[in-house]
Amino acid sequence: MKIGIIGGTGGMGKGFALRWCVNHDVLIGSRDAARAEEAAREYSSSADKELGTVKGKIVGVDNTAAAKESDVLVLSIPYENIDAICSQLLPNVKDSCIVISPIVPLTKTDAGFELISFREGKPSAFELVQKYMRNKSNLVSAFHTISEKKLIDTKLVLDSDIFVCGDSENSINAVNGLIKEIKNLRPILLGPGSLSYLAESATPILINAMIKNKMKNPGIKII
Ligand SMILES: NC(=O)c1ccc[n+]([C@@H]2O[C@H](COP(=O)([O-])OP(=O)(O)OC[C@H]3O[C@@H](n4cnc5c(N)ncnc54)[C@H](OP(=O)(O)O)[C@@H]3O)[C@@H](O)[C@H]2O)c1
Repeated sequence: MKIGIIGGTGGMGKGFALRWCVNHDVLIGSRDAARAEEAAREYSSSADKELGTVKGKIVGVDNTAAAKESDVLVLSIPYENIDAICSQLLPNVKDSCIVISPIVPLTKTDAGFELISFREGKPSAFELVQKYMRNKSNLVSAFHTISEKKLIDTKLVLDSDIFVCGDSENSINAVNGLIKEIKNLRPILLGPGSLSYLAESATPILINAMIKNKMKNPGIKII
């Protein structure tokens, strides 16, 4: 399977690449192909040093190529850029391509971190992305509550739950499979995409708890 990461040069992109290159080819996407190639070289070198056996290759390309060639596409970009990026890229994805949104509409206010959707009455990241999907049921939201620091640290036992929202059982199952490939991550289905705002709102809760209580990259585990 070929997994493309739009905005793959960011922290989350690195974490996804290191975790999934064990079994899959990974395309690091960027607005700038040279930046993507540089990131891909760096991630490949980390993977070789840290992971031992790696079946997939990590390659850097521009975002458009990543969108066209991927079987699974992760939108690892800020909420503010969804309109610009998705309007340009999502018309080009394969009909069968599953799109994952880890995007959190996060803003910093005087009170702390808050959800833009609540604060400004704007759509959830899932709703905003879905507007641009040709096959709307191929969109799944996940990975809002795992910190990039933890994802990148391949020696760390993650022991966390990942909330999953989507409108198609097949798409959800495919994403659940990718979550389970990351050791000790467990997918937890919350419901359809219309409930994704609940999963997205868990991130500011975690960040505020982390800052106020001096915790280190907290995650969520349902017991
Ligand atoms: N960081 C975390 O721990 C964490 C945890 C859970 C969920 N998330 C969510 O996951 C997503 C990615 O997080 P991140 O921390 O990796 O994000 P990030 O570092 O802020 O950005 C990721 C990439 O997006 C691209 N980008 C930046 N500004 C852009 C713009 N104006 N237009 C188009 N592309 C732009 C950049 O790639 P190029 O410049 O190479 O194009 C950048 O490397 C975010 O939506 C975040 O809310 C993050």
